[in-house]
Amino acid sequence: MATQNQCSWDLAISRQPGQVTAPMHDVQRRERSRGVLSRAWFFARNFLRHPVMQGSLVPSSHFLVNDVLRRVDWENARLVVELGPGVGTLTQAILKRLHPEAALVAIELNADFVGFLRNEVEDPRLHVVRGSAADVGRILADLKLSQVDYIISSLPYTNMRDSVRREILQESRRVLAPKGVLLIFQYTTKVLPYLRSCFKSVHQDFQLLNVPPALIFHCTR
Ligand SMILES: C[S@@+](CC[C@H](N)C(=O)[O-])C[C@H]1O[C@@H](n2cnc3c(N)ncnc32)[C@H](O)[C@@H]1O
Repeated sequence: MATQNQCSWDLAISRQPGQVTAPMHDVQRRERSRGVLSRAWFFARNFLRHPVMQGSLVPSSHFLVNDVLRRVDWENARLVVELGPGVGTLTQAILKRLHPEAALVAIELNADFVGFLRNEVEDPRLHVVRGSAADVGRILADLKLSQVDYIISSLPYTNMRDSVRREILQESRRVLAPKGVLLIFQYTTKVLPYLRSCFKSVHQDFQLLNVPPALIFHCTR
């Protein structure tokens, strides 16, 4: 199942046969040390290529980022997983708050974003993994990590097939520690019934200062 999801997205991000592609290091070199606007432009260009997979034209606002991250107990969180880091808007904000002995695993399907993040964000606590969120269990096992305290997800659940959406949520629940929390932000409520069927408690909130305004879901097992 995970492989099917991975394959369908992989097909979406692969080029046509015979088409010349820029090697990853070229992408990294071009984006090295660029500022916020340049990141936003890189993100928008990728949206034009992969609109369904990306789900948003612009990165999250700092209002939304702060609103999501204020829900985390930074003193005690030791393992945080980010699903769909994109150009690292949240990743960097998470690292600023993360305990020195904690780890952050960022799982991203888009190879260009993975290259960008590996090049831009240097921090020994960060593991950037190219893969599907549906494989979070296997990815963590490979890293010899378990019992996730927080999963922070901005995946475009609205655009996914039902089976893929369900699989990612079930896997997310499975890897969470008993008191672990899933924080999701979305632009629609489409994921809500799936969250309610997977999680014991789902609390919904709203952040207006984002393009578009976003819903925040706080879910516990
Ligand atoms: C709406 S963007 C969010 C980007 C960034 N976190 C932000 O808030 O600005 C969603 C991200 O999820 C990634 N993505 C989509 N499906 C995924 C999947 N199944 N597994 C991992 N990443 C995925 C996309 O490539 C994109 O970077």
